[in-house]
Amino acid sequence: MADKERKASGDTENTEIEKAKLIPVYVMGKRYMVPETLTIMKALEYAGYRFIRGCGCRGGICGACATVYRKPGDYHLYVGLACQTVVEPDMYLTQIPFYPANRASYEFEQLTASPEEIFKLYPEVFRCIACNACTKVCPMDVQVMDVISAVKQGNIERAATLSFSCIQCGLCVSRCMGELPQYHIMQLARRIYGSMIAPRAQHLNEAVEVAKSEECRQALEKLMKSDIKQLREIFQAREIEPEMAGEDWTPAKRDYL
Ligand code: FES
Repeated sequence: MADKERKASGDTENTEIEKAKLIPVYVMGKRYMVPETLTIMKALEYAGYRFIRGCGCRGGICGACATVYRKPGDYHLYVGLACQTVVEPDMYLTQIPFYPANRASYEFEQLTASPEEIFKLYPEVFRCIACNACTKVCPMDVQVMDVISAVKQGNIERAATLSFSCIQCGLCVSRCMGELPQYHIMQLARRIYGSMIAPRAQHLNEAVEVAKSEECRQALEKLMKSDIKQLREIFQAREIEPEMAGEDWTPAKRDYL
C-alpha cells in the first residue's frame, strides 16, 4: 500500500475510533473507558498497555493472545483471542499470554508412526477423564476431547485431522482437570501424520522437479537481473488462475516458472 493510501486508511480508522461510544471494561480489576468498536487487544492499547508478549500475528493465527473474561451477573467464564474478540460493556478480562504446559522433548527423526510413541512421550494422555472442558474453552472450536480420545485409540490420522485448526493458545491446558498438555499432544500427532502417514502429494513431487530443472534456474536468473519496472510488468502480465478453476488448472504460458 502506498504511504498516502496507508495514511488515508489509518486516518479513517482513527476517525471511527474517535466517533465510537466509550464503554467501561476492567483489566485485571482496573476500570478503563474504551471505544466499543475495538477488539480487546486494541482496547488494551487504547487504555495505555503496551504488548511485549502475548501478541503476535493480530490475525487469529498465532495463538499468543488467549484471554479469559467474565460479564456482569453471568457465572460463565468466557474465553477468546484478544485480537479477534470485540469488547463488551463491563467485561472483566485478563490475558494468559503463556501457560506452562509440559512439552516432551524428542528427536523427531527417531520416532515411528506408532501411537506408542505418543503414549511414551505423553503418558498423561490416559489421565483424561472426558469432562470436555478443553473443547468448551477452545476459541477455534477444535473438538479437543475427541482428539484426545482418538490419540488414546491410536488413531493418529483422526487426531491430526480433527486438530488441524489448533493455534496452540494453551487455553485447553489451563482448564484441564487431568493436567494434559493437549495442544502439544495434538501437535505431535499432526507432525507424525504429516510426515509419516499422509499420502504423498504427486503434484508436489512434480513441482519440486520443475523447481530443480535448468529451465527454472534460467527463468529465475532472468528475473533476478530484471529491474523493478520489468518485474512489475512481468507480474502484471502473468496469467491469473480463474476463481472457479479446477484442481487440474495450469497456466498456458509457463516460461516464467
Ligand atoms: S495475536 Fe496472534 S492470534 Fe491473536
